Amino acid sequence: MPTLRDMPKLFTRRALRDHAVGLQDRLRGLDFVRMVWPEEVGLDPNDANPSTPSGDRWLRDVFRDLRIRPQDSIIDIGCGKGSAMRVMLRFPFGRVDGIELSEQIAAIARSNFRRLRVPAERCRIHTANAAEFGDLDGYTYVYLSNPFSCSVMRRFVANVSASLARSPRPLSIIYDNPVCQDAVIATGQFSRVAQYPDAWGNAIAVFANRPAGSPAIRVPGRR
Ligand SMILES: C[S@@+](CC[C@H](N)C(=O)[O-])C[C@H]1O[C@@H](n2cnc3c(N)ncnc32)[C@H](O)[C@@H]1O
Repeated sequence: MPTLRDMPKLFTRRALRDHAVGLQDRLRGLDFVRMVWPEEVGLDPNDANPSTPSGDRWLRDVFRDLRIRPQDSIIDIGCGKGSAMRVMLRFPFGRVDGIELSEQIAAIARSNFRRLRVPAERCRIHTANAAEFGDLDGYTYVYLSNPFSCSVMRRFVANVSASLARSPRPLSIIYDNPVCQDAVIATGQFSRVAQYPDAWGNAIAVFANRPAGSPAIRVPGRR
């Protein structure tokens, strides 16, 4: 267990290792990390946030605690180039899918997973607008890394509620840098059950619903 005094050393090691991974990726023709501004791909910066990666060791810590099972499946809403999905694929999720508004960015994500030889039946990227995407019934986890404005978030959360009404089930929302978390809380269906740090000092919040009759979802680890 690292102490506070170990932190600078840890950060240095992490930074160096991330740098090495980035270099290896470039040599393999992978692009998970180069940031894309919404304007570069014709998106409205008032609604869409830049494409930046969140798939790192901090996110891995969250999934370690969640004890993922093969019957679980996850969708990354605003998946960018697939950085967070790459981390999810290390866990025993039955499916790891993503939706991305920009066709150009989605094409990079698809190319990344093809190059990594991830089987298509385990991982699919949809080009879609989260505000209109309703095909959520098959998922037990939703992931977001502050992808868009709160007005889009409210519309997305309404799609989640409609999915739960059609198909009641335990569902967790993992939300990195949860600037629009009020939209999640306002449904009255989710409560915040855990919180983790991310690489930038923001929170990674875990929200869970507890449908009547199901055992409470217990997330071990930090609160
Ligand atoms: C911060 S990046 C997150 C990337 C990825 N989730 C990760 O954590 O590695 C947010 C992404 O959401 C996408 N996005 C923005 N608005 C969207 C919308 N309405 N529907 C789907 N994707 C959207 C952006 O194009 C961008 O690629």
